[in-house]
Amino acid sequence: MGGTMTVEGGRPLYGTVEVPAAKNSVLPLLAASVLCSGPVRLEQVPRLSDVEDCLAILRAVGCTAVWEGEDIQVSGPPVWCRMPLEETERMRASVLFAAPLLARLGRVETALPGGCRIGARPVDWHLSALEQMGAKVSQAGQRLVITAPAGLRGAELCLPGPSVGATETVLMAGCAARGLTILHGAAKEPEIVDLADFLNRCGGKIDGAGTDEIRIEGPCVLHGISYRPMPDRICASTLACAAASARGWVTIAGCSPSLYSPVLDILEGAGCTVMRGTSSATVGRMGALRGAGHLVTGGYPGLATDAAPLVAAALLSAEGKTWIQDRVFEARFGCAEGFRAMGAAAAVRGRTLELEGGCPLHGADVTARDLRGGAALVVAALGAAGRTRIEGCEYIARGYASLGEMLSALGARIV
Ligand code: UD1
Repeated sequence: MGGTMTVEGGRPLYGTVEVPAAKNSVLPLLAASVLCSGPVRLEQVPRLSDVEDCLAILRAVGCTAVWEGEDIQVSGPPVWCRMPLEETERMRASVLFAAPLLARLGRVETALPGGCRIGARPVDWHLSALEQMGAKVSQAGQRLVITAPAGLRGAELCLPGPSVGATETVLMAGCAARGLTILHGAAKEPEIVDLADFLNRCGGKIDGAGTDEIRIEGPCVLHGISYRPMPDRICASTLACAAASARGWVTIAGCSPSLYSPVLDILEGAGCTVMRGTSSATVGRMGALRGAGHLVTGGYPGLATDAAPLVAAALLSAEGKTWIQDRVFEARFGCAEGFRAMGAAAAVRGRTLELEGGCPLHGADVTARDLRGGAALVVAALGAAGRTRIEGCEYIARGYASLGEMLSALGARIV
């Protein structure tokens, strides 16, 4: 879906849509597969550009990583420690390959990762955790060189903040390290639990994933398995917000509503009808919506930072104000400019997006500046009268394999 997308807004959405596997699970699982001595098969993976970048990293270090239908098969030990600069710099999640490659090869040469421009997003907590487990980190030009010739050792660690990625780095490093690793201040996101479940099924000994204290007994001999990653709760949130923006009646299947209940609760409070099943939710909107007042993002089970622009997009024309403060990233609301071009009263003050509400939306030419902000422009465009042209859709392709097709199947007119 690179390039441009055109949305004819004002058409309600009806039908059922299946939620694909979570990007934020698949990426760490692909990194973790480097730790396994036998082949790993990930089932039903969406073809996202971030996934293709991970496969390119795996191949560049000597692993075999291939699509087999909708599944991905990864095999072979890594042989080269140098990660490819282009993919590594393009995607922040490339930092997740550092710990497993270091564990297998004793050395990894990576780069400072980039990714969406939604804030500073340093990787210092990943590096400091690895250092506390016996690694040495140095910088050579554009490259970060991490070595642990004598292997990693278990340690008692405390993260300065609940970082999802740094928690995943410690999970992977801890499986390879000699002795017990105890991580205090871990992030509690469901994707971390999914990674721990995967590693445990491969032979790992991880306890406490999903709480803020995780214990890992290493070293573990990990074998390969076939694994189905958890559903994408941010994609489910996107579809729920799309129904709220466009109006209509949409069933979001294959994802437990408990995984994104803050989003469903906000939409329900704003005037949508929400019906929750065990593994599906139905979101209906007929009449006008109300502003949601003051909202803040936070770690799980709070409102996910990735869902914040999507919720905003659904509430742009609601009656009454909404404020959304993002506590995780400092530049989350780059989509506000596009919202304004569509007629919304949307202002960013510090980390808070302020929506006046009450403004009918119209089509406009807008530009996606990051993944979730780009998807939020699509969500807003569904509820806007007339045609919206969205440039920069390569950002959207990083996290949605077929957003246009999914929405078209529900009745949206998207090219
Ligand atoms: C993951 C998700 C991303 C989501 C984010 C927060 C993946 C692939 N991506 O990103 O979609 O938006 O969680 O839920 O799972 N921090 C540091 N130093 C570090 C690491 C983090 O200062 O070494 C800070 C970051 O700048 C940020 C906060 O910690 O302010 C949280 O970031 P983190 O949870 O690490 O995000 P990611 O794992 O990169």
